[in-house]
Amino acid sequence: MNAPLTAAAPPTMRALLQRRYGADAVAFAEVPAPTAAPGAVLIQVVSAALNRGDWHLLTGTPYAVRLAGYGVLRPNRAIPGMAVAGRVVAVGAGVTGFAPGDGVLGEIDGGGFAERVNAAPGALAKIPAGVSFEQAATLPISGTTALQGLRDAGALKAGESLLVIGAAGGVGGFAVQLGRHFGAEVTGVCSAKNVEGVRAMGAHHVIDYTATRLGDHPARFDVILDLVGAEPLASLRRMLKPGGRLVSGSGGQDNVVLGPMFPILRGLLSNLGATERFIPLMNKPTPSDLEVLCALVAEGAITPDISARIGLSEAPGYLDRMGEGHTRGKVVIQIDADSARSAR
Ligand SMILES: NC(=O)c1ccc[n+]([C@@H]2O[C@H](COP(=O)([O-])OP(=O)(O)OC[C@H]3O[C@@H](n4cnc5c(N)ncnc54)[C@H](OP(=O)(O)O)[C@@H]3O)[C@@H](O)[C@H]2O)c1
Repeated sequence: MNAPLTAAAPPTMRALLQRRYGADAVAFAEVPAPTAAPGAVLIQVVSAALNRGDWHLLTGTPYAVRLAGYGVLRPNRAIPGMAVAGRVVAVGAGVTGFAPGDGVLGEIDGGGFAERVNAAPGALAKIPAGVSFEQAATLPISGTTALQGLRDAGALKAGESLLVIGAAGGVGGFAVQLGRHFGAEVTGVCSAKNVEGVRAMGAHHVIDYTATRLGDHPARFDVILDLVGAEPLASLRRMLKPGGRLVSGSGGQDNVVLGPMFPILRGLLSNLGATERFIPLMNKPTPSDLEVLCALVAEGAITPDISARIGLSEAPGYLDRMGEGHTRGKVVIQIDADSARSAR
């Protein structure tokens, strides 16, 4: 049963609760429902998307994330979930620009895997006509990382060649489609089971990394977007055309303490004396970019690849499996399943 959209808070709500770090540390629960906090927008969440970052915050790895403000011994925020779409229920004191009933999406500071959440208005954009709640929920983090990686970090231009490593994943699916939209010749890298799917998203060429060693491939690229971090830096540099840009979204995450810090430093050092650039990518939660992505979805230029629609109680298992690094497209939690596919 869906909670009715009223400003009066129901006493409790359904949510995922995480009291400690660990792959098995999250569970479905009934918790007190929030009311609108001063300066915040209270959202009735319709859809929320899983992201690899949720898995990092679930496990507290690399340990550096704990020191980055997420909680050293246990998570500061008991309810996970950063990518949401829903309807405004009420606005807190001092909030302008949003009103009850508005459809919104955003990258929020946790709390999204629940029926209601308070979000900072500066994190939100309005959902335009033609974009469903479930599509909107896929855009924060995955869509913005792909957009910022190609448009800003990679400065991708029409007619250039683009290699997307990790093309079947949440970010990669958007990168393939955006690359094509920007007029690039797109090559996607994925495993055999995803070759047809990546081609269907618009890749001109697909490399199956289980059949071909990527470093042995003869093609050279203007821009490489690396979302996996498995291929050695020297090998990726060899795959760049003169003046090419290697945008690193994962940086290589094999270090459980520091994560990608050393691979990023190595990459930046490799720029010395070279015309090809290594550029580390850091997603910025920018509402204007969410508006850009929404417009592209509404006009049919990109279509989020939703591989699974699940209920809140199924999410712990899916979150755990995200750590294996083989999720296809986006997994969306249908918190209000009746509204998720509608545009209002
Ligand atoms: N820098 C940032 O701000 C930022 C933001 C968001 C995400 N990220 C990072 O970007 C990476 C991708 O995120 P995501 O959300 O897209 O992850 P995801 O949804 O879990 O997707 C991972 C994809 O990687 C593919 N893959 C695994 N090994 C591969 C390999 N050796 N070669 C090519 N593809 C391979 C898998 O496809 P197959 O099953 O076909 O192997 C899977 O579809 C993660 O490391 C994440 O932490 C960074």
